[in-house]
Amino acid sequence: MNSTLSPDKRASLVEAQMTLDEKLRMLHGLYAVPANFKGNVPPNVPPQQAVGSAGFVYGVPRLGIPPLQESDASIGVADPVSGVTGGPVRGTAGYSTALPSGLNTAATFNPSVAYDGGAMIGTEAHEEGFNVLLAGGADLARDPRNGRNFEYAGEDPWLAGVIVAGAVRGIQDQHVISTLKHYAINDQEVGRNTLSSNIDWAAAHESDLFAFEMGVRLGHPGSIMCAYNRVNEVYACSNQLLLTDILKGQWGFPGWVMSDWGAVHSTYDAAAGLDQESGDYFDAPTIWFSGPRLKAFLNEGRIAQSRVDDMVFRILRSMFAVGLFDDPPVITPINATADALISQHDAEQGAVLLKNANRQLPLNSSIKSIAIIGGHADVGVLEGGGSSEVWPVGGPAVTPHNFGFPHPIIYDPSSPMKAIEQQAPGATVLFDDGKDPRSAAKLAASSDVAIVFVTQWLAESIDAKNLHLPNMQDTLISAVAAANRHTIVVLETGDPVVMPWLSQVSAVLEAWYPGSGGGAAIGNLLFGMVNPSGHLPITFPTGVQQLPRPKEPGLSDPNGYFDVNYDIEGAAVGYKWFDKNNLTPLFPFGFGLSYTTFAYSHLHASNSNDHVTVEFDVRNTGKVAGWAVPQVYLGFPEGVGEAPRRLVGFQKVALMPGQTQHVSLSVEQRLLGMFDDTTGNRHWYVTPGQYQVVLGESSRDFKLNTTVTLTSANIAP
Ligand code: GLC
Repeated sequence: MNSTLSPDKRASLVEAQMTLDEKLRMLHGLYAVPANFKGNVPPNVPPQQAVGSAGFVYGVPRLGIPPLQESDASIGVADPVSGVTGGPVRGTAGYSTALPSGLNTAATFNPSVAYDGGAMIGTEAHEEGFNVLLAGGADLARDPRNGRNFEYAGEDPWLAGVIVAGAVRGIQDQHVISTLKHYAINDQEVGRNTLSSNIDWAAAHESDLFAFEMGVRLGHPGSIMCAYNRVNEVYACSNQLLLTDILKGQWGFPGWVMSDWGAVHSTYDAAAGLDQESGDYFDAPTIWFSGPRLKAFLNEGRIAQSRVDDMVFRILRSMFAVGLFDDPPVITPINATADALISQHDAEQGAVLLKNANRQLPLNSSIKSIAIIGGHADVGVLEGGGSSEVWPVGGPAVTPHNFGFPHPIIYDPSSPMKAIEQQAPGATVLFDDGKDPRSAAKLAASSDVAIVFVTQWLAESIDAKNLHLPNMQDTLISAVAAANRHTIVVLETGDPVVMPWLSQVSAVLEAWYPGSGGGAAIGNLLFGMVNPSGHLPITFPTGVQQLPRPKEPGLSDPNGYFDVNYDIEGAAVGYKWFDKNNLTPLFPFGFGLSYTTFAYSHLHASNSNDHVTVEFDVRNTGKVAGWAVPQVYLGFPEGVGEAPRRLVGFQKVALMPGQTQHVSLSVEQRLLGMFDDTTGNRHWYVTPGQYQVVLGESSRDFKLNTTVTLTSANIAP
């Protein structure tokens, strides 16, 4: 308990005191809620001391080692099986604050917003008795239909890595261990337990693995969760190259690898680098890392004692590093009001204004009549489904009915309509549920403006069937737009969608899943109390024909052992694919409008000792305050790079009207290079030559450009 010693020293001191049985009991975790969905094994009854939610790992009271109390996930303290019990499994303590979706937080292009959100959910976790939050979703959006993109941070590995690292740091500063997950290349939900993500390892290092590498190097997560899928035909949790050579070898990751729930396939996975089996009920009746099995492996020399000691050491080290010994959770009522404001700020910063014809927005508070249509906008805003879903403070705004995983469909009780009424106290604000387009059109025809809220519910274990809004919502929007030329569409989607009605409406705001403060955020954005500043972290295609895989793999045999060939695009994910193939998307990566305008000047790029610095000035040339999100893209010389350009820097800059700010960005060295996967000599290398440096407000809207000369360089992996 000597906190002046290093985590490594403290871990080795306490491990030296542990018996073999005490060590082995830390290497598999229990599912921490009652469950009985496996006919061939007894029901899961968690131990009395388990707080509840995703996982519990016994500690060693004799030595002061606390148990691990594990909750999901990136959006907040979740109740993965609220569906089973119809409500929080932890009683009133189960009500928590929902952050907006990960795509929203990525769209803020603001790591400090990600940090603040992480700090908030980490605080709530700590107050609810948890010391591990299974957050940090960092899988890349290779497919805009992936049902879990809402838990992640988009298609660019640098943006995703920086944003998720911010969230991880926020969580861990509350003495709650965060994970990074799902490692790696778990980029679609169809067939997630059996598919193989196939990709050249060099391309993997330049894309999906880069997001995790930056997450590790910048976020220092206590744990990494290996994924369900196979990578190049070997299960992620059995994959020595992934878990030991790359993660622990190349990146020097000092923490531990936990499995996803039901993602272990053998006790030999320990030899590959897996350190802990999670949620062993999912693997029952075979508990791969049970004491008896591990003991047998030790006795038969099939696993070395040193490996077992390393597995335990890694867990203890992370526990000391994050403060689980020194600052254990203390059950405390959460500060729901303050926490909802943090979530609201995230939503305000991440909503993306996609269209604003004739300055339709912001609305004027003197407006006389407003039609609010669809999306349960009278009472709340949509959440995504599955293990990440939060049972919100105040309870769901819409009574859930279907409880089968990954349901229920939860609406957070933050009403856009109430917020709009507060912004326009003199207006007549009427609601139509949007079920009958004719009725909605009739209300729209008699209103000054019509605001149509449309939803796309996505969830873990499913993918979007296509890129269309479901439930005939396209028809609803067209009917309303035909009745009122001042029609505003607010999207509450988990993924990009196509917009056949785009030319018929006057404004479009992508609000993602906006979380526990989402209604208030939408009200502030529509009336200009807050200037929209979100920028797309994911490309909006015009249709699936623009994708590397127009037809999602595995649909015909979702439980089959099929391959997903990511070598089609390799590291050219998202906008890089569009640039490489000269495709014009509906809305490009990095796109986002503002109620003001910005001008850029004095762009300069310099390279001293292979460290590139990019500088420029940005000025608010409009009449209202706002945030600029200048983005710096590196343009490769002919024949170099995975695509014409790569995001290498960005900054969110708050500017008053007329204000100018100087920005100086230093570029992460690995972003200048490509990866050489030669066995035994893996490294990053920079090809010498003249590179373009372009400054833009999206991946397709460049304001200035210059050049920088790079010399050849090798960077240790
Ligand atoms: C789930 C998810 C993972 C979650 C875990 C515990 O299946 O894949 O993200 O943390 O199991 O609920």
